[in-house]
Amino acid sequence: MSTTSMHPATSSSQNPSPSSQNLSLPYASRHDKLIGSVIDASTTLLAAYDHDIVKFGMGAPAPDMLPAKDFARIAGEVFSPENFTYGETKGEPILIEALHDYLASSGQIPPEQQGNRDRLLITSGGMQGLDLGFKLFVSPGDLVACESPTYTNGSATAMSYEAEILEIPVDEDGMQVDALEEHTARTGRAPKVIYTVPTFQNPAGVTMSLPRREQLLAFAHRHRSVIIEDNPYGMLRFSGESLPALSDLSPNDPLIFGVRTFSKFVAPGLRVGWIDVDPEIRELAVNAKQTMDSCAAVPNQHLIARWLAEGGADSHVEVLRQAYRERKVAMSEGLQRLFPGEIRATDPDGGFFLWVTFDDETINTEELMPTALEEGVAYIPGPAFSPAGNFSNALRLCFASATPDRIDDGLDRLRRAVDRYRSER
Ligand SMILES: Cc1ncc(COP(=O)(O)O)c(C=O)c1O
Repeated sequence: MSTTSMHPATSSSQNPSPSSQNLSLPYASRHDKLIGSVIDASTTLLAAYDHDIVKFGMGAPAPDMLPAKDFARIAGEVFSPENFTYGETKGEPILIEALHDYLASSGQIPPEQQGNRDRLLITSGGMQGLDLGFKLFVSPGDLVACESPTYTNGSATAMSYEAEILEIPVDEDGMQVDALEEHTARTGRAPKVIYTVPTFQNPAGVTMSLPRREQLLAFAHRHRSVIIEDNPYGMLRFSGESLPALSDLSPNDPLIFGVRTFSKFVAPGLRVGWIDVDPEIRELAVNAKQTMDSCAAVPNQHLIARWLAEGGADSHVEVLRQAYRERKVAMSEGLQRLFPGEIRATDPDGGFFLWVTFDDETINTEELMPTALEEGVAYIPGPAFSPAGNFSNALRLCFASATPDRIDDGLDRLRRAVDRYRSER
């Protein structure tokens, strides 16, 4: 999808740095590496509009997809005064237990790791898991490889620790590990950390093939690179053959730092996730987390623990898979119908996202955005997914947040926006 590119830590596609040119305050050197998130900022952007907008931008499950009735009932039971105090940094034992049992029973941890609760640390969402990983392994100037396009909230977190970012292109089989190997051979410098979303990638929706997974692991072992395996969507497969996670292929591997979250299959507003790491690394992560927030939100941990222990997840995840299959099909078919011969779109087997590239390279999706918002549809422009600001003629669509009818409506609006943008420029 692009060539390998390397650069330090700034990008025109990100939010402008809040650091004022007028104030000469004694900021830390990392302050201008805090570039902000176009993805997160879209929530504020959309709040400023008061007409109807079909939201294909943010990667959030729709409110109709949340187990809200279960939560209301369980909240009445577990939101008791003793659960509104500080908790253990590693997480509430009752949640660690319920999570371990759920992961083991649903085949999400390899048999070799089952029974080992000391690998799990409850975090404040997946974002904190990423922060802990980069905090533990990145020193200023270290090289961090990420996919291109990538989930830039992840690469931005690496940049906040003053990493140098290396973008490795992605194709239908995920990260092109050959390009990573070539770059390393050419420069003699291997990345210290590799950040990847191998399954139903954000933003491209693609999944790393088994040979690529094996190749990536071999590379990491050869160079002792840490792999941050960010896996929020893996359980949301709705078609195709399931593939082992990197952590399944290499159980108990200290080089794999697993980041997971409840945001995509339970609810993002709860802000609860977990990491799955070597127990020694977990001890360090506990210390690191104590400099951030002491513990994840205790009532929310009890809510999720009870829901998991009741068996809520199994049936809910099945409902999500069915719904997301329908929504993805609606979006793929709608795109084919409305943009024939004009775009290339990925065809994910799970997760939340489709990646659309216009054949006409002069279409600039950042410039198209105001027209799209006027027409009543939101997406995230391609450059928001590249630290170097590549992919100006691409965009990410989230199919998970809207019903099929609403998806049709949103794509009609996108069609109108593209036509208007073309005729007005
Ligand atoms: C790939 C990826 N990693 C991490 C996250 C962050 O998860 P959370 O909302 O739990 O912090 C997201 C959310 O969009 C994501 O897509």
